[in-house]
Amino acid sequence: MTTTLITGANRGIGLELVRKFLAQGHDVIATARDPETSNELNATGAKVYPLEVTDASSVAALKEAVGDQPIDYLINNAGIGSFAAFKDLDYDAFANMLAVNTIAPIRMIDTFLDNIAASDVKMAASLSSMMGSIENTQASFGLIYRTSKAGLNMALRAAAPELAEKGVTLLALHPGWVNTDMGGKQAPVNPAQSAAGLYTVITTAEPSSELRFLDFEGKTHPW
Ligand SMILES: NC(=O)c1ccc[n+]([C@@H]2O[C@H](COP(=O)([O-])OP(=O)(O)OC[C@H]3O[C@@H](n4cnc5c(N)ncnc54)[C@H](OP(=O)(O)O)[C@@H]3O)[C@@H](O)[C@H]2O)c1
Repeated sequence: MTTTLITGANRGIGLELVRKFLAQGHDVIATARDPETSNELNATGAKVYPLEVTDASSVAALKEAVGDQPIDYLINNAGIGSFAAFKDLDYDAFANMLAVNTIAPIRMIDTFLDNIAASDVKMAASLSSMMGSIENTQASFGLIYRTSKAGLNMALRAAAPELAEKGVTLLALHPGWVNTDMGGKQAPVNPAQSAAGLYTVITTAEPSSELRFLDFEGKTHPW
């Protein structure tokens, strides 16, 4: 039996990832900022814990609750979006986005590194975005979101060789343009389709000391 920890699991892609991993027989530890109101998540049967990813004491409390339990798959899913362009920059929003999308996933991997390294699979997958691709960017639309995901990709790529020494493999994943609160109603991929694709990509990825940036269909994404 493998154990999977998924952040930001009360709605959107995270909730569907929980359902998919449970349906495939994994034990799932799922986090939400407010478990008491996370009715759909509580109904899945996952073990639900509170987690605000930007709060070090909240991350520490989750670590305390999980203890030394091995974690086969850590999935950094929690994230926030913004499509503001250069002319509309809000620097408090910029700092918060870096805290949620860039710094928090790294803190999670760092905090749970021993749990991941103690597992059979040893995989940490983080939800990035095609908008974090530097070479595909030609407009300031989504500047702070793009920057947060490009920064996440760089941090993961820089960490990957060192973590590979503990047998831990990192992945950066684009989930598709998904019909969630963040992606909007016009998005062509539904959350269950995205989660099904991500499940296959995450659970079939070979161990590697190099970071791969893959989409939910397993295709390599341009940096
Ligand atoms: N949807 C897309 O088209 C798309 C495309 C590319 C990448 N992504 C990435 O995929 C991931 C999931 O996106 P989604 O579309 O499912 O988004 P979503 O529907 O907006 O859900 C975001 C989740 O993240 C949680 N979250 C946000 N800030 C948090 C914080 N500070 N601490 C803990 N949890 C927090 C939210 O919790 P609350 O309910 O408490 O707010 C919610 O559970 C994100 O990393 C996103 O950047 C999405």
